[in-house]
Amino acid sequence: MSITFLPAPGARPIDGSVDHAIQDIVAGRSTDATCTTDLAAGPWDFDVRPGYGPGSSMGDVIPTGAPRQGELPVAYREASEEELDARIRTAKQVLGDRVVVLGHFYQREEVVRHADYVGDSFQLATAAKGRPDAEAIVFCGVHFMAETADLLSGPEQAVVLPNLAAGCSMADMADIDQVEECWEQLADALGPLDVADDEGLVPVIPVTYMNSSAAIKGFVGRHGGIVCTSSNAQTVLEWAFARGRRVLFFPDQHLGRNTAKAMGVPLERMPMWNPRRPWGGSSPDALVDARVILWHGFCSVHRRFTVGQIDQARAEHPGVRVIVHPECPMEVVDAADEAGSTDYIRRAIDAATEPTTFAIGTEINLVKRLAAQYPQHEIFCLDPVVCPCSTMYRIHPGYLAWVLEELVAGRTPNRITVPADVADPARVSLERMLAAKPPAPVAR
Ligand code: 13P
Ligand code: SF4
Repeated sequence: MSITFLPAPGARPIDGSVDHAIQDIVAGRSTDATCTTDLAAGPWDFDVRPGYGPGSSMGDVIPTGAPRQGELPVAYREASEEELDARIRTAKQVLGDRVVVLGHFYQREEVVRHADYVGDSFQLATAAKGRPDAEAIVFCGVHFMAETADLLSGPEQAVVLPNLAAGCSMADMADIDQVEECWEQLADALGPLDVADDEGLVPVIPVTYMNSSAAIKGFVGRHGGIVCTSSNAQTVLEWAFARGRRVLFFPDQHLGRNTAKAMGVPLERMPMWNPRRPWGGSSPDALVDARVILWHGFCSVHRRFTVGQIDQARAEHPGVRVIVHPECPMEVVDAADEAGSTDYIRRAIDAATEPTTFAIGTEINLVKRLAAQYPQHEIFCLDPVVCPCSTMYRIHPGYLAWVLEELVAGRTPNRITVPADVADPARVSLERMLAAKPPAPVAR
């Protein structure tokens, strides 16, 4: 099953490929701008260097010990787009139902077209669960998504991440040691964290965004907490407030702030926890008064969106509908017409019956694909600079061809396995989320 773009009769064909757009910019065939011309190189050029690689998070600090990808064999590095496309199709045909390929909305078009399922991180994790017959789940996304698929899939199923360097800089902003230390300090400020008051509420419930390591999901599971996604954050916060006086929300400060603000929590009751500062840079009094303690994490893709871009879109496109992802900063969400998850954005465009101009604040691969899929609308990214998520972009079709051909040869490369001591409590936190709000159907 692959996506085919069927333009409406008379519509202009639009190329949904960010890779082509970048190649055109670098070759001087386009006057658009990209954040770095390094994006035109193959990701293998960066596999041997530290850092997240070129793109939105290239300036972020990568933790020591972050997974690195070994050298991709030369045949895949030198193959043309057409050759890789044909190799992927052939390998998938040989493997048949033994393999399922999952593609996140932010993946390149050249990868997404081979996916059996395309969706957001949570939809894809549950899609994996729905294919117990598949021996291998090839997850074209980032590391925490592959871990979640491993948690929710059968023990015999292998989850494969085509490029091990495809992490997530936001997920990396909360490591388990920092979170454990924060928990100890909160106990100093708030008293024993596992003791409920006379209304049955404990001092603090930890809530982690799906974009976090399995170790953090395990921590949350061990401490009565829960996972959320960008599509169910409000439901999850309601769940947490029914059980605790406060929430410790990580790693994304913006999703936490935007969601809690929409629920009526005043900003002054949302102190920030910066793991590099004593008391997180807050004070014990502020922590006692808090409703939501926000971890100092952010997404470098969504941080690129500004109120100025929205003002410009409104000035140049009267009547434009501005939709942004809730990982954007609060003032951007406030200035937009709507904010919602990747799947919300997709569904909003799909549901528009009249030709509409949409300015979208999320990752460029999804925006370009939507523009190609819905040529009856004008759809553009608020950020005029072509700057994909660095780590999503590490999955090039060369890696997909490589892992599929390895599977054909009876080998399982790049397997992502969560150890049992982490997996058991991590599943608890995911099951709590599933019970709080069932997933929407996967996009296809
Ligand atoms: P979704 O949960 O919507 O898939 O988003 C994942 C992500 O990385 C957003 O930046
Ligand atoms: Fe992580 Fe942001 Fe990339 Fe999503 S878009 S994978 S949150 S860095």
